[in-house]
Amino acid sequence: MKGVILAGGLGKRLEPLTRITNKHLLAIYNKPMIYYPIQTLVGAGIKDILIVTGGNHAGEFLRLLGNGREFGLKHINYTYQKGEGGIAEALGLAEHFADNDKIIVMLGDNIIEKSIKTHVGDFAKQPKGAKILIKEVEDPERFGVPEIKGEKIINIEEKPKKPKSNYAVTGIYMYDQRVFEIIKTLKPSDRGELEITDVNNEYIVRGEMTFATLDGWWSDCGTHESLLNASKLVAEEVKSQK
Ligand code: DAU
Repeated sequence: MKGVILAGGLGKRLEPLTRITNKHLLAIYNKPMIYYPIQTLVGAGIKDILIVTGGNHAGEFLRLLGNGREFGLKHINYTYQKGEGGIAEALGLAEHFADNDKIIVMLGDNIIEKSIKTHVGDFAKQPKGAKILIKEVEDPERFGVPEIKGEKIINIEEKPKKPKSNYAVTGIYMYDQRVFEIIKTLKPSDRGELEITDVNNEYIVRGEMTFATLDGWWSDCGTHESLLNASKLVAEEVKSQK
């Protein structure tokens, strides 16, 4: 399975921090944000990784990460998203890289505590479709929220005012090669973006979506509050290892 990390977008909610650099290069405690999703994918056994970035500071990724030797990789692939057309648009740029393989996609601002190796192994055995990882949260209205009936997710709503569960769909998604055909059928949402939630709902309608609950803590870093929270969580972990 190949890995795709989405690190485009302009990070406007983090102004003025993101005025002179890309959000994913900001510090989370003692490392740049982008290090964490790379480590998560490498830890899950993924060796072939594409980073999709954008904005005015894309060159800095190459300066920082090079060929990924620091992570035990032989090579890192890069591609460029013009503008901020949404998570699904950024993922669409990975079609050539995926080359009909299954992929695991991770949002560049998602930071997690535990390994996802078991989930990746489960999806490798899944004959077709998609798999998402969900997590119980206190503020589901900030995320994609699954409506769960019995053992199944029957729908996902993006940032609902009245969430139908206390779970968030985390930014870790696994797809078969048909994801790129689905992306081509999408229309921009009210916020002008191609939404990953629309991709996931299409797999749900087809009855091909599985899910699991993520172990350990999880944080995004899209707001000042969540950026600080992620740093605190990582700091505690680093200190507990000393
Ligand atoms: O963190 C999980 C949440 O991420 C999910 O629960 C939501 O369903 C999903 O839509 C997403 O919500 P956000 O509103 O937090 O996404 P955001 O616009 O902050 O983008 C998250 C990452 O995706 C960002 O760090 C980089 C990447 N991205 C985003 C956009 C809009 C791109 O690569 N290109 C883009 O155009």
